[in-house]
Amino acid sequence: MHLKRPLVIALVTAGLLYGCGGDDAPTVDQQASALLAKMTLDEKIQLVHGAGYGVSPIGGAGIVKGIPRLGIPDITSADSAGGVNVEGVNATPYPAPIALAASWDPSLAHDYGASIAAELRALGFVEGLGGGVNLAREPRNGRTFEYMGEDPVLAGNLLAQRSLGTQSQKVIATVKHFAANDQETNRFTSNSVVDERTLRELHLLPFEIGLKDGGAGNVMWAYNLVNGGKACESSYLLTDVLKNEWGFKGIVQSDWFFAVTDTVRAANAGLDEEQAGSSDDYTAATLGSFSLPVTYFNQKLKAAVQAGTVPLARLDDMVLRKLRTLYASGVMASPPTAGGTINQAAGNAVAQKVAEQSMVLLKNAVASGDTASVLPLTASAAQTIVVIGGHADAGVISGGGSGAVPARDGNAVTCLVPSSGIFSTCATWYKSAPLAAIRAIAPNATVTYLDGSDATAAAAAAAAADVAIVFATQWQTEGTDLSSLSLPNNTTDPANQAYDQNALITAVAAAAKRSVVVLETGSAVTMPWLANVNAVVEAWYPGVQGGPAIANVLFGAVNPSGKLPLTFPQSDSDLLQASISATDLTVNYSEGLKMGYRWYDAQNITPLFPFGHGLSYTRFSYSGISTRSNSDGSVTVGFTLKNTGARAGAEVAQVYAGLPAAAGEPPKRLVAWEKVQLAAGESKAVSITVKPERLSIWNATTHRWQTLSGSYNFVVGGSSRDSAQSSLLSRS
Ligand code: BGC
Repeated sequence: MHLKRPLVIALVTAGLLYGCGGDDAPTVDQQASALLAKMTLDEKIQLVHGAGYGVSPIGGAGIVKGIPRLGIPDITSADSAGGVNVEGVNATPYPAPIALAASWDPSLAHDYGASIAAELRALGFVEGLGGGVNLAREPRNGRTFEYMGEDPVLAGNLLAQRSLGTQSQKVIATVKHFAANDQETNRFTSNSVVDERTLRELHLLPFEIGLKDGGAGNVMWAYNLVNGGKACESSYLLTDVLKNEWGFKGIVQSDWFFAVTDTVRAANAGLDEEQAGSSDDYTAATLGSFSLPVTYFNQKLKAAVQAGTVPLARLDDMVLRKLRTLYASGVMASPPTAGGTINQAAGNAVAQKVAEQSMVLLKNAVASGDTASVLPLTASAAQTIVVIGGHADAGVISGGGSGAVPARDGNAVTCLVPSSGIFSTCATWYKSAPLAAIRAIAPNATVTYLDGSDATAAAAAAAAADVAIVFATQWQTEGTDLSSLSLPNNTTDPANQAYDQNALITAVAAAAKRSVVVLETGSAVTMPWLANVNAVVEAWYPGVQGGPAIANVLFGAVNPSGKLPLTFPQSDSDLLQASISATDLTVNYSEGLKMGYRWYDAQNITPLFPFGHGLSYTRFSYSGISTRSNSDGSVTVGFTLKNTGARAGAEVAQVYAGLPAAAGEPPKRLVAWEKVQLAAGESKAVSITVKPERLSIWNATTHRWQTLSGSYNFVVGGSSRDSAQSSLLSRS
């Protein structure tokens, strides 16, 4: 039962941490210190708070005013979850981060980060506010589309690559929202009550992996409370864990409003920057009908430093972190200039690649009377296809709130109920119509369109066609949670839905010779009609090239290879909390470690589609698993993966570990994966090394990671419920 190798992650292993390793580190620190020595108290104060919301001359979310006399540029920031969220700049709308996660492709995550950052920089932004990585504990969370699913290892690794990509463009990367910020209901006041082990093994882990391996320079703190105190004012989270244990040398930034409640508490806990801040702490402002809060890091902080309640050394540390991050990112040497042009062709290419790599073929059955699965459709065939609903004639849907990306050329769909409040309640639809793309790829087909509002007419058209393709959408936004994972209808989302989508699909499925459902969603959805449709493709929010990407997958120009980054349950009642309380401000993480697929495994609940699931137009077989313990505590898992079908394809081979019983863990956890490309008939010996820390548990008594001796069960397969091959490994 004893640890062979305590897995406290040494700071030295954080060599990749942003600017803190390698030969540059002393130079960056020395440069920052030298500049700090020249600064007045007022200048220091100016550098640790934003100047207000909506005041930046180049738009975006925030600006910390620079100090020209010292060569410190304005530190401008823009939201950029899935592309730059600034109106009127023609930035590229990429697929949402949940789609990126479904690609399970680290190098694509790097490209995604780099491509968005190139646009941020061209527009003059110093800092990108993408990088959301809160886990999908509650898939009804309105921001699920902005994050990367329910597994900390998947999300953390992709986040690391995204951050590296971002910072390769001299743009400071952000990771957010630290921590346990997993639903939008009462987001300023809810209190996430999470035990230490659960916090460390699940909710902090994507941040830990992402920061240690990806080195983002900025960490945005959440609005909510964690275990009774505001996240932004938690010295345990800010200083003990993030700065001291993980060795984070960058900036700790507050989320935009109501995150800070006390100057001295926040400053002394370790907060380094208040956003959106204001030019005067003592005056509250408004943003439309929204009352902006008073702020705390301007005059109040100066007074606290002068009174000694916040030590000057703490203020100096805030400033040093800012300066060293500016130096390390390359921004000091080369600040961005606004007004550059966006390379739309390059953006579109990355957007389309991410869309195509992320689509998940959930189901693909043989229709009655056929011999082959319904998908892929044959592009050259003279066939009749009816496309139904989801505004597929106009475009593809995207998410709202700060994770939105404005359409370049106007919204393709008009809102049904006008919006009010700070966030729009109307979805943005990019003019990338699947209907047009289907017509283009299948020139010999007769393709008609019905808008879905008349289910009877849709069923009749489906009965007369060779294939019926129904598009269904689910809109999500910051600020509001979904009431259910049921596909929204005209009652639950009156601004964006004109009819009952489930009823439409049910009617079409009953009549169609062959039925295909294409989902454009930000989270999981339930599918009461699943048994009656032949095929289902999850396209997520596929971005500006969504139309062609969907057509390429439907017709087999692209062989789908995405895998679910979160479990799709059979019903809302299978989720770990029955509903999201509108009134109870305590969000009790009483499920502990049983979150995401761990919940379904531990509770013996059969999901609709398990975490990691995704089909292909070819088939893969796994054989010959072997496991080997290495001297550094890692484990190498080897196996043979064969493409047994007739087309080239990629398989995300997933490695799960079951820990010794004494660990008290849910049945399995994802510990590694590899996306393997194989030609038809090709087989490959795959060897995946599982890092020692992926096999460790958090000991809440010693407050350390530990690895237990005992028997570990390694399973490889194509989903979390596919135990294609397994091997027991005894470790002492
Ligand atoms: C969101 C952040 C966002 C910020 C700036 C906040 O409401 O929670 O994710 O970066 O606004 O727009």
